[in-house]
Amino acid sequence: MLKVNFDTFLDFLQTKTPPLIGVDISSSSVKLVELSTAPNNTGYIVERYAIEALPKDAVSDGNINNLDALAETLQRAWKRMGTKIKNVSVALPAAAVITKKILLPADMREEDLEFLVESEANQYIPFALDEVNLDFQVLGSSAGNAAEVEVLLAASRKANVEDRVAAAQAAGLKVVVVDVEPYAAETAFSQIRAQLPDSAEDKCVALIDIGATVMNVNVLRNGQSIYTRDQQIGGEQLTQQIQALFGLSAEQAESGKRNGGLPDNYETDVLSPFRENLVMEIARALQFFFTSSQYNEVDYIVLAGGCAVLPGLDDAVATRTQVSTMVANPFALMALSGKIKPRQLQTDAPALIVACGLAMRRFDLS
Ligand SMILES: Nc1ncnc2c1ncn2[C@@H]1O[C@H](COP(=O)(O)OP(=O)(O)OP(=O)(O)O)[C@@H](O)[C@H]1O
Ligand SMILES: [Mg+2]
Repeated sequence: MLKVNFDTFLDFLQTKTPPLIGVDISSSSVKLVELSTAPNNTGYIVERYAIEALPKDAVSDGNINNLDALAETLQRAWKRMGTKIKNVSVALPAAAVITKKILLPADMREEDLEFLVESEANQYIPFALDEVNLDFQVLGSSAGNAAEVEVLLAASRKANVEDRVAAAQAAGLKVVVVDVEPYAAETAFSQIRAQLPDSAEDKCVALIDIGATVMNVNVLRNGQSIYTRDQQIGGEQLTQQIQALFGLSAEQAESGKRNGGLPDNYETDVLSPFRENLVMEIARALQFFFTSSQYNEVDYIVLAGGCAVLPGLDDAVATRTQVSTMVANPFALMALSGKIKPRQLQTDAPALIVACGLAMRRFDLS
């Protein structure tokens, strides 16, 4: 018999969990978000958050290259946040997870179902099964055949999960939920959608996340992703250009970009061409979506990721695409605890989408 690990790890379909902190491990930083709920479950409260820069190359493309550095950064972020909660939810990058819907007979006992899932999984998963974390969820009766049920299989290489668990453990934390990044982003997107007219019902919303190294375009309709595309462009390029032109260290360039104090020609010689390039890539990405789908327009553009707050980017995107454009703030409808600085949260919010979605895993608000 195949030996498969039916553990609690790939449990992104489960809804309620104990108090936890959402932890997004990305290429430039770790981002932690803690939410609570108002009495009577009337809404969310942002309790605390922290963003702590990672050493260069400690994490790249969702792979953990330097576990010790990640654990240290995680611990520093957790201490700075001043929380007591040690349970965390983390996410795997989409590329690290395989999902597959299969059909199985409806009249099966739980144990038989597990056995059948194992043998079916063997066909679809291109790794030895003892190297993967496997999870499944019965979605419901099949639309075409009442004698069958639709089952969602999810599998990830154990190493992807174990590295995150180990880093958290070394930081004194405990992973209780492993989600998948695009699903966490979709969870947080529900908060953004609620800010759009008529909750953008039957509209196409392009969520464009521009991080340090990757620009991820995700077009959603009624809260469901209908198109995704990644492109290698991000804020790291801007940081490198600032370093090269002004002879600064990476830290100085990063700080100048965020807090100002760069020479006068920064705006015209560096920022403006970079911004134009981003706008062009966004317009091109939308063209790719139009040619590969039945749609020929998007109704809203939502800019996310650390680069969303680059001065003038939202206006430049709106002008070029003629689409109503906003900067993402998944916390806009939430109350803030006294510990949060609203202005700073406003600036940091676009980069906290995944961490916010992970923190929302604690609740079952509807
Ligand atoms: N206030 C700001 N002004 C300008 N740039 C900023 C600001 N805040 C963050 N950035 C830039 O955004 C980038 C980090 O964004 P984000 O945290 O979304 O990236 P990431 O998720 O780590 O990267 P990736 O998604 O590519 O793995 C960095 O290049 C950083 O310099
Ligand atoms: Mg990111």
